[in-house]
Amino acid sequence: MRYVFLGLPGAGKGTQARFLSERLGIPQVSTGDILREHVQEGTSLGIEARTYMDRGEYVPDDLVVRMVEERLEEPDATKGFILDGFPRTVPQARALDAALAENETPLDRVVKFTITDPIAIRRIVGRYTCGVCKRTYHDRWSPPKNDLACDHDGAPLEKRTDEDELTVKRRLALYRQQTEPLEGFYDERGLLTEVDAEAPAAEVSERLVRGLAEAEG
Ligand code: AP5
Repeated sequence: MRYVFLGLPGAGKGTQARFLSERLGIPQVSTGDILREHVQEGTSLGIEARTYMDRGEYVPDDLVVRMVEERLEEPDATKGFILDGFPRTVPQARALDAALAENETPLDRVVKFTITDPIAIRRIVGRYTCGVCKRTYHDRWSPPKNDLACDHDGAPLEKRTDEDELTVKRRLALYRQQTEPLEGFYDERGLLTEVDAEAPAAEVSERLVRGLAEAEG
């Protein structure tokens, strides 16, 4: 199965992609996580990407498209994938369409997770991420058992450099301007399913599974 997850920053794309990836045994391909790995490793892509990411801006299309095309060529992606945070612009969506058409492996579904701006801001400002396994926690809604250590591997939890309120507001505005048009792009193709993501994560997972099953008929 080949899925794209859309939604405001903080909508829970990463949380739900991790859930579905484990359930279906297909990889979660998060462009945000891959870019942050490049930043951490100090690659030339990471050095360029960082200037955009820290300001809450999008990394240029050509860099991200190339990175995703390479990732989708890896063997684990042949049985399917969940694209978490890609595409984010119409040119990225067209590039993805072209790459998938070449292999005759079109998308099965695009899921849009819906939340309001105030909830998005509260989720991101309160988020902590494990530096190793990338699991996320929230200081109010899903705190770790031990202060600032990951329940899964004990590694320290970190704050991202784009999680202050001002940067989050900039990211929300950019989503409206650049990414929201993709909802129409995929709706016209009959691919869009909306999931109300303002509920506890386990409930959202149930809604996701139900939404995908209904779409498959
Ligand atoms: P990226 O890392 O993709 O950030 P994002 O899309 O802005 O989304 P987030 O990761 O902030 O939120 P999420 O929806 O995954 O929510 P999460 O599950 O973590 O991208 C970062 C940057 O990289 C971009 O700004 C850009 O610069 C660059 N970039 C990436 N892709 C790009 C592209 N394609 N093109 C150009 N540039 C690109 O949940 C958030 C919090 O809420 C967590 O604490 C979680 O525990 C909690 N939570 C989740 N679900 C629930 C729930 N149901 N109830 C309560 N709490 C919940």
